[in-house]
Amino acid sequence: MFISMKSVSAIVAGICLGAVAFQAQAQEPTRLRDAAEGLFLIGNAAPTRAFSDLIASDILAQDFNRLTCENEMKFDATEPQEGQFNFRAGDTLVEFAQKYGMKVHGHTFMWHSQTPQWVFQDSSAPNGRASRELVLKRLENHIRGLMTHWKGKIDSWDVCNECFEDDGRVRAAGGFGGNWRAAIGDDYMEQAFKIADKVAKELGEEKVLLVYNDFNMYKPGKVQAVVKMVNDFKAKGIRIDAIGMQAHWQSNDDPSIETIEAAFKAYAGTGCKIIISEMDVNTRNGFRNSGRGLERDDSVQGNADSSAEALAKRYADLFDLFVKYQKDIYAVTLWGIGDGWSWLRGGQPLLFDNNLDPKPCYYSVLKSLQKGQKELKK
Ligand code: XIL
Repeated sequence: MFISMKSVSAIVAGICLGAVAFQAQAQEPTRLRDAAEGLFLIGNAAPTRAFSDLIASDILAQDFNRLTCENEMKFDATEPQEGQFNFRAGDTLVEFAQKYGMKVHGHTFMWHSQTPQWVFQDSSAPNGRASRELVLKRLENHIRGLMTHWKGKIDSWDVCNECFEDDGRVRAAGGFGGNWRAAIGDDYMEQAFKIADKVAKELGEEKVLLVYNDFNMYKPGKVQAVVKMVNDFKAKGIRIDAIGMQAHWQSNDDPSIETIEAAFKAYAGTGCKIIISEMDVNTRNGFRNSGRGLERDDSVQGNADSSAEALAKRYADLFDLFVKYQKDIYAVTLWGIGDGWSWLRGGQPLLFDNNLDPKPCYYSVLKSLQKGQKELKK
């Protein structure tokens, strides 16, 4: 049963979350979490306010078994000043996840965005810039701080986020998104993975998956570059366990199913698990997700059919593909619950509407998962 806006007042009267635990005796699973059982983990990204919202909490607990902090585990949120850690908001999500038997994905250690300036500064240096050694020390301290605090509670960590351009070049040291590379040098990703693995070992957390995460991960240049990086890492004995494809996609056929499938094959070939890490499907015509949110792009006309039915079909096609590759896919995470809270304002990209009522695409995803589960049981 879904809690709709209309029924909230009735519900507040007495229902606690556990009490609406879904009908175990049902023939066919009718919530995503149950329908995805055996296929892959099904996750959501939640802002802190979700946990004080009855409807949002109910959806998270019943439909999902993996949670990612939308912002609360990022560098600026967890270590705003050097050595001064703030875990409060992250803890709220972790406690909720533990209560409802969900896994937690940590997002993210190294990203060019949402990282405080102090990381790269050194007032005692003549040019004011921190040395490679100092930045590496700060990165290690940060990773150790987070891994220690959430020891035993995190299933996977994004070690590096968004380091490649669409054509496969690593972001230039002097250009947009090149801050970590400029500070550490060309081996910055390698260093981050080595540090994460070293700290994980120290803490007995070797099982925690180390992930490379990025957007536009279907673009051939990027696919090639990421596959090459993973293979290089493996040849050097550097641990990397999973590849995160953010999946901020469009409701028209962009990217096409064939293109995504080619990327799956390439990534699966590395031996890494695939994670669909931040899925949302933009329906706003004339806008594309640039990686920094929706930006005007007149070439995007295919989204003209932004009807709920078209979006439901697109989600079904995508989830049918995920089901087909379920052996390679570890988890699929939606980047938000309802459209009203989505970072893609006006994109109406999620499974629930502004009132957190399920949209037709919720049911098409459910159907895809149900079908997939039946196949699996055959
Ligand atoms: C976004 C959040 O959803 C927004 O609330 C925030 O203002 C900016 O970051 N790639 C990522 C995510 O790895 O962390 C981003 O999340 C979306 C793009």
